[in-house]
Amino acid sequence: MTQTPDYKLRAEHSAHRAKPELAIHGGTPAKQNPDPPMYPGGMAIAEEEEQAVLDVLRAKRLFRYYGPDEASSKVSELEQAFAEKKGARHAIAVTSGTAALTCGLQGIGIGPGDEVIVPAYTWIASAAAVIAVGGIPVIAEVDETLLLDPIDVERKITPYTKAIMPVHMRGAPCRMDELMAVANKRGLKVIEDVAQANGASYKGRSLGTFGDVGCFSLQFNKIITSGEGGMVLTDDQKTWKRTHMYHDVIGAFKLEFEADELLCGVNYRMPELLAAVALVQLRRLDGLLDDMRQRKRMLKAGIEDVAQRRRIGFRELADPEGDTAIATIFFMDSPAKAAAVAEALQAENIGAGVLYTPDQIDYHVYAHWVPIINQRTWTAAGGPWRWAKREIEYRPDMCPRSLDLLARAVHLNISPLLTNEDVEETIEGLNRVLDVIA
Ligand SMILES: Cc1ncc(COP(=O)(O)O)c(C=O)c1O
Repeated sequence: MTQTPDYKLRAEHSAHRAKPELAIHGGTPAKQNPDPPMYPGGMAIAEEEEQAVLDVLRAKRLFRYYGPDEASSKVSELEQAFAEKKGARHAIAVTSGTAALTCGLQGIGIGPGDEVIVPAYTWIASAAAVIAVGGIPVIAEVDETLLLDPIDVERKITPYTKAIMPVHMRGAPCRMDELMAVANKRGLKVIEDVAQANGASYKGRSLGTFGDVGCFSLQFNKIITSGEGGMVLTDDQKTWKRTHMYHDVIGAFKLEFEADELLCGVNYRMPELLAAVALVQLRRLDGLLDDMRQRKRMLKAGIEDVAQRRRIGFRELADPEGDTAIATIFFMDSPAKAAAVAEALQAENIGAGVLYTPDQIDYHVYAHWVPIINQRTWTAAGGPWRWAKREIEYRPDMCPRSLDLLARAVHLNISPLLTNEDVEETIEGLNRVLDVIA
């Protein structure tokens, strides 16, 4: 006979008390309305974006480098504004975050057979970009920040490692001091993936400016958006030239490079219409961050007691001040309990989820990166693994600590559109659920 788990007994017991019944047991949900859609910038789109797009259309200036209108290019304006906001010397606007990573990797000279250390928890595009340039992704564990673990990074370095890719997942900064120290000590390049953390910082400095290159996405569910789009930041002139040439065929429209530095690239140039939207969104960034941070502070204060009582640990933040506050994440002591908590929260109208479930495909977790684990290539003669300088093996269980943390992690979005009432009801729902199930 299987034993009824502890939390289920407590849940049954609680049903007989005066406390409100959990929605999952038939009670009224703590939260009246479902969470608003988690598209912070996307949901803020208003007349300013409409006007910006109309301006471009009316001027018939849809291409960065020419048109009937002599006015300055929106893409150029965006690059300048982005670089200024982040405190970087150069910015290159591209068509997506994946394009930004691919161009950035070319910019820093990653090529066939070069190993790049990526975290076990990131959107598969981070690793796919490495493959796109012929590099070999080497997967390292994440720690309680759910971000690249500097200790495991050091363990995964081989004579063929050329770069580290810290990915600032779910809005929070990686342990940049430690990661930069490892990179500097071992002579490695750093390419930051800031797709999910636009606006975040570490010790007062913008993410994306620590590494040799910093790569952003403006895809629709990022903090600010133009639907699709990306940006590369760098301070280094040579890296900028290489990145620029790669994203613009050969630097086709910037005829200022010397003949002996020219290289053939592809075309990842950002269209003017996207830049017009992104420019407006960039001005919205600080307001969105303020709104999310205020809601997260309120939420955390409201669940601190129950978290302490139930010994629930929150995701560690390498620098709480620099967190964008797009999410609250806490760990349960088992995957089953995390799943039960997430399910009970959903019944309360709180959009919670677990970050890893083995049988639900989610390309944010390396164990689901099937084409990488199986080293599938586009053609039989294709790279990158045939260019590897040593035996490379991937296994779904190769980063057990990451899988354990992610499977026990309960994740809640913090939309800037949550009202005070929504946050209060979310707190009430979390208190109810955690008191009974945790
Ligand atoms: C961490 C991370 N890296 C890279 C990307 C790729 O960005 P894009 O979808 O704009 O290509 C994403 C987007 O989902 C992401 O979340």
